[in-house]
Amino acid sequence: IRTGLVLDRDFVVGPLDRRVFGVFVEHLGRCVYTGIYEPGHPSADEDGFRGDVLALTRELGASIVRYPGGNFLSGYDWEDGVGPREQRPTRLDLAWHSTETNAFGTNEFIAWCRAAGVEPMLAVNLGTRGADAARRLVEYCNHPGGTTLSELRRQHGQPKPHGVRAWCLGNEMDAPWQIGQKDAGEYGRLARDTARLMRRVSPDLQLTACGSSNRELPTFGRWEYEVLQECFDEVDLLSVHAYFENPHGDTWEFLGNIDRMDLHIKEVAAIADAVAARRHSHKRMKLAVDEWNIWYKARAGEHAYQPDWPRAPRLIEEVYNFEDALAAGGALCVLMNNADRVQVACLAQLVNAIGAIRTEPGGPAWRQTIFHPFALAARHARGVVLRTAIQSPARSGRMHPEMPYLVASATHDEASGRTAIFALNRHLAEPQELTVQLRGFGPLCELVEAQELFHTDMQAANTRDAPDTVAPRPQREARVAEGQLRVRLQPGSWNVFVLQ
Ligand code: AHR
Repeated sequence: IRTGLVLDRDFVVGPLDRRVFGVFVEHLGRCVYTGIYEPGHPSADEDGFRGDVLALTRELGASIVRYPGGNFLSGYDWEDGVGPREQRPTRLDLAWHSTETNAFGTNEFIAWCRAAGVEPMLAVNLGTRGADAARRLVEYCNHPGGTTLSELRRQHGQPKPHGVRAWCLGNEMDAPWQIGQKDAGEYGRLARDTARLMRRVSPDLQLTACGSSNRELPTFGRWEYEVLQECFDEVDLLSVHAYFENPHGDTWEFLGNIDRMDLHIKEVAAIADAVAARRHSHKRMKLAVDEWNIWYKARAGEHAYQPDWPRAPRLIEEVYNFEDALAAGGALCVLMNNADRVQVACLAQLVNAIGAIRTEPGGPAWRQTIFHPFALAARHARGVVLRTAIQSPARSGRMHPEMPYLVASATHDEASGRTAIFALNRHLAEPQELTVQLRGFGPLCELVEAQELFHTDMQAANTRDAPDTVAPRPQREARVAEGQLRVRLQPGSWNVFVLQ
């Protein structure tokens, strides 16, 4: 099939916020314990941080990390996780029916973020706690000294304030499974009051309110509208959560989740703009897609009561396959293409529990298939996102009425003069002859890198014994001449082209 893409250097969606390449670390299963933190592991440093996972996190190119949850957050007392380790309490984690030792807490997380070179995004518990606990945590973290809470942090070996700017006001507070679930008005007022109090401590915070836990809930849309009616002036971002599923093993339908995610983002933006219109406000609410991923294979019983309350159990350890990598690559295009609204996005999650990275306790760490499109996008997407005018045949799907075979995004970085093009051929049987017209880039535009993610088996996965089954390799079909990039894309492949 033949497809086309027109890019014009002057036609811009908006600046790309690098925080769209964020990830999520929750106290869930083995994400923290034996994931990022495992004292005694051969690669661990003096803080107990696994060196192999730190190295892979840097390679992944993660920019911001949301912590500590997730459902875990809504039953978490932050005070349990600070101070001398031997005095920290062991608690029941009522979200995941596990035992939480609190060996890892806020200060360890901040130290880990520094080691990984990422920005922290902390969340405050609005399930069992509220505004008062939240403002105390902000004071503990961000106030320089001279008050009981800031001096407590100093006593805990942290003389400098953490300076955490990005905060989430609770987690999925609409969800029936959430500890302390609230109705929209109740949550909106709590988010408003919590935001006001937190800002009295630290005025420059960037605050995210909870949107719906997913688009399929009956309250979707109404929740966003009613929450924002209450806290529109106090919050900067509204969250969007999107998990892709493939319950019937149908790759085409599965890839329709990409279009569905785009629709979802635009719907939430439209609802936020409706609230703005009612208030005669020029404010355009930004979005934090602070949980997105593929998650359906390792779902059964995830909230089930486990009578033995295990420590760091193997929970929701989804094994990602090649089609998941295609879906993740398409999702990354959607996040980029919505750069005018999406400021933050977090792949949920980083390690083991629906993680881009897998580890074995005491053993190796390896890259899951979805690691690769993320790492390539994080490495090459820079500057501004260009508008993508796509010419492509399309087919319908149950997830979306019109799904073009070509999914693409592109960025241009004025400083380096580099343009990056990301292209998914989701025709599963036919190659795509793609022509990209490059307008306004000048005659000296040359291809500096071309990579493809391709495998003949949609079910191929990376495992401990075969960690590189799915991995990018050079794309050798691309040619640039006379202001055009011409390339043949493999059927069912995700590709990156960098021009300068
Ligand atoms: O990421 C796993 C879980 O998914 C999170 O704890 C929750 O917020 C969402 O439902």
